[in-house]
Amino acid sequence: MIYEDILSSLKEENRLRSIPDGLGGLDLISNDYMSLGAKYAQLCGIFFDQFIEAPMSASASRLLQRNQKEHNALEKMLSELYGKSILLMNSGYHANTGALSALSIPGTLIISDKLIHASMIDGIRLGHGDTARFAHNDMRMLRKILQKKASSYKSVIVAVESVYSMDGDLSPLAELVAIKNDYPNVFLYVDEAHAFGVFGDKGLGLAEELGILPEIDILIVTLGKATAGYGAFIATSEALHSYFINCARSFIFSTALPPSIVAWDKFMIENLIGMRDERIYLRELSEWFRKRVEDITGMECQSRSQIIPVHAGSASRAIEMATTLRDAGVDALPIRRPTVAAGTERLRLSLSAGMTREELETVLAAINSIGRTSCASLQGQL
Ligand SMILES: Cc1ncc(COP(=O)(O)O)c(C=O)c1O
Repeated sequence: MIYEDILSSLKEENRLRSIPDGLGGLDLISNDYMSLGAKYAQLCGIFFDQFIEAPMSASASRLLQRNQKEHNALEKMLSELYGKSILLMNSGYHANTGALSALSIPGTLIISDKLIHASMIDGIRLGHGDTARFAHNDMRMLRKILQKKASSYKSVIVAVESVYSMDGDLSPLAELVAIKNDYPNVFLYVDEAHAFGVFGDKGLGLAEELGILPEIDILIVTLGKATAGYGAFIATSEALHSYFINCARSFIFSTALPPSIVAWDKFMIENLIGMRDERIYLRELSEWFRKRVEDITGMECQSRSQIIPVHAGSASRAIEMATTLRDAGVDALPIRRPTVAAGTERLRLSLSAGMTREELETVLAAINSIGRTSCASLQGQL
């Protein structure tokens, strides 16, 4: 069978994936950046003490849902925080596929960074509209595309992530705003999946931290990462909010988030907002860890966040490195194609506010044991 042939070639190329089982070491895999998920038992106690009897299923799409209480309460809270209209979506994947495909109509051009998340790529593909891409964070290239093409379209959407999920580096959001302001028809679409909870005074993301929230036209946040909840939301203008309700198919044609989950999301975000000290701690920890990794590998790391990649250069090497870390009691998954391009396979290390420098010394010792020479020999390839 053709599908079995595909599995065989994936295996040969060291790219066959399976669902990991029994991971129990120091967790450098999950996106529980503020360690709220790790405090689940304690938080659950408080949550269920004040638990409102929110149903475990919405039993219908949002447009047909009888009980809107929890959804409305979370949207209202987020709307006050962002100063924008908020639309809850079932997941970050639903948000990006729904919003980007809805925006892809004749007369619209979507220009995206080459390293955007798969869910954004899928949304753009679903839209079958006109598209262009610029090299990662290359603002000169973006300007060139805009100079050449912007005047031929009614609207141009520039789609980026604020913190890139596999490299941990940041998008030059302030420059993007300056570029957008040179054109009357350019709109900014920013996925803050990895910045929400971690960046900004209240944890609203990188746009909050830079004081440019009003300039971001469509902002996407998923609640399965620092929030330790589930779902996602779009923060946007009143007009686009209504547009997505009417035209985003993943919103219209899917059962809404369970009200109980929405109540949990709200409870967790209320916790997250006040975690300023933890945000500062995580930033300092990440900076320290990144510098130590650079010293060990002899390679410069572009990350400016809690996500720190250690490059391997091949799938087999990435697997080897993950095994070395696992033997040292550290869980880190190898990242391979198609998540990253061939030759840029890596370990993606994801730090969180509950970690200590002592714990991370174990990780550094394991990386050190992998060997400086092999890491340094990769430098020319990246
Ligand atoms: C940048 C980005 N956007 C969207 C998503 C999808 O979010 P969700 O897991 O809520 O579907 C992810 C998650 O992996 C992501 O990294």
